Amino acid sequence: MKRFSAAAACLFAVGLIGGAAIAQDIEKLKTGGPYVPTPQIVVEQMLKFGAVNEKDFVIDLGSGDGVIVLTAARSYKASGMGIDIDPDLVRQSNASAQKYGIADRVSFVQLDVFKADLSKASVLTLYLLPGMMMNLRSKVFAELKPGVRVVSHDYHFGDWSSDDSIGFDVPEKEAITGVPRATLYKWIVPAKVAGKWTIKVAGGETYELALKQRFQSIVESSATSGGKALKPQSVSVKGAEISFMLADGKGVARFSGRVDGEVMEGMVELAGGKTMLRWSAARTLSAPVSME
Ligand SMILES: C[S@@+](CC[C@H](N)C(=O)[O-])C[C@H]1O[C@@H](n2cnc3c(N)ncnc32)[C@H](O)[C@@H]1O
Repeated sequence: MKRFSAAAACLFAVGLIGGAAIAQDIEKLKTGGPYVPTPQIVVEQMLKFGAVNEKDFVIDLGSGDGVIVLTAARSYKASGMGIDIDPDLVRQSNASAQKYGIADRVSFVQLDVFKADLSKASVLTLYLLPGMMMNLRSKVFAELKPGVRVVSHDYHFGDWSSDDSIGFDVPEKEAITGVPRATLYKWIVPAKVAGKWTIKVAGGETYELALKQRFQSIVESSATSGGKALKPQSVSVKGAEISFMLADGKGVARFSGRVDGEVMEGMVELAGGKTMLRWSAARTLSAPVSME
């Protein structure tokens, strides 16, 4: 089994790419970094933070000795897959899965993370250098289904702000990385709602809604009904769930619902909650989500 060198661990701790290190480590640092294991206590926290359960399929990108996926399967009965470029680590991880009797639920594949198929993931975990995180960001954002929880140890996706984060002391990390703390970041992959939508409320109004989106934030919105402009308020996307308010002279309509690709549907509350009606919407013009 290849272990990280002290030099590589040090570079990992400070998140540097390049610099003077052993040739093998430099080669690894050009990718996602050397093999530096997440301590078991941090693995447990990552899985709790990601609310992993028996229905989940956990993918760990750069899976090392497989500890994250193996723990998800053993402690939470999840299924999963680990992907690592290092064939020895992949062999070792598959051997561990056999040893624990969970090889029917988890497997490890030798592959460059950029070539990984992420479509089965309901939870994605990462412990990769900052440069790699940034290079992977658009793949993670584009390929994961809305609602997938992404949990990363220590490194984040730059200005794709996390939806939640926690930090805690981990004295045993001092010996491995020189830093006795761990930070965990969590993102809920948002539905892509940028573009124009026609909303129909059952037996009632039709609205035109236009949305501009940057990562999980709606940065601009406008709406019309019967040619009259309305101001959308509190437009929010969380995973596949969307909510917004549309105000006209008659009052405020509070929409909540789910996005499924090119359609959305849900319930709208009118007249201060006295009336609840079904609504549905179809996208009439698609627009890219900004990552600038
Ligand atoms: C810091 S270790 C994390 C291991 C494990 N996820 C954990 O948290 O214990 C990073 C792992 O990513 C792997 N790696 C680096 N670049 C990679 C790439 N381009 N594709 C697949 N794996 C890669 C390394 O071999 C190493 O095992």
